[in-house]
Amino acid sequence: MLRRIEADVRPQIGAGQVAAYIPALSCVDPNRFGMAIADLDGKVYGVGDWRQPFSTQSITKVFALALALAQGGDDLWERVGREPSGNPFNSLVQLEYENGIPRNPFINAGALVVTDRLQTLTGDASSELLEFLRQESGNPDVTFDPEVAASESDHGDRNAALAHFMASYGNIANPIPALLDHYFWQCSIEMNCADLALATRFLARHGLRADGTRLLPRRLAKQINAVMLTCGTYDAAGEFAYRVGLPGKSGVGGGIVAVVPGVCTVCVWSPGLDPQGNSVAGIAALDRFTTLTGLSVF
Ligand code: DON
Repeated sequence: MLRRIEADVRPQIGAGQVAAYIPALSCVDPNRFGMAIADLDGKVYGVGDWRQPFSTQSITKVFALALALAQGGDDLWERVGREPSGNPFNSLVQLEYENGIPRNPFINAGALVVTDRLQTLTGDASSELLEFLRQESGNPDVTFDPEVAASESDHGDRNAALAHFMASYGNIANPIPALLDHYFWQCSIEMNCADLALATRFLARHGLRADGTRLLPRRLAKQINAVMLTCGTYDAAGEFAYRVGLPGKSGVGGGIVAVVPGVCTVCVWSPGLDPQGNSVAGIAALDRFTTLTGLSVF
């Protein structure tokens, strides 16, 4: 089935634009495509470039949110909302109207609040996240890409503006330079489709980690999946629900993870992005996946 999906989406592989606003991301070959499915027990099936590491970028926002909720509980929701923003992922515009409370944890402003919370809880947010991803993927080689982190930092004025603006409303607790560093390191983590499908499994397993221990109560796993469905693909979340019908989270590296609760996880990667910052071939592949299998939540 994966081979059929790859053949079906071949005309769209290479379509769209590779993210250029972070120079270190702009040199990726747009013609790459990989897809992996992990079942609940951790068996992985893949096609194409499914073992090729790529920049996870905003996909890590899901894992940071899960860790912040697992360790700090629902207090986080006093500082960040759970509604789609209808704006680009790096937009500043709603923050002033809404008193420094970002719409959701998957736009950059919301993710900065989540990383701030994780930093308060752990003292080392990005290392905590990396260790979690290594454990859940079973891959000790998952690591940061220092070149991408430095490039993000060099071109991080927009994120710095978001952090300072929220700090002016009292919604950032840690020193902003350190917070931004942890956020940029978090975005720079490199993983392949198999790693990401495996690491996302706790959301398909109703909160259970790879080793069988519980990361999250069932309620929180359900709620994170719901926020992924409504907010995981920025101002294209409605279109993603319409075409794919699964909780999903994208990143500007061209990856998307999706969850079929109680069944499996899927990760697809192809670097060409649509204007909203979501992988063109990735969305097409997930659309084919849910259409061919019927494995959508709808
Ligand atoms: O904050 C940024 O601009 C990036 N490091 C994360 C971008 C990202 O993947 C968000 N959207 N797709």
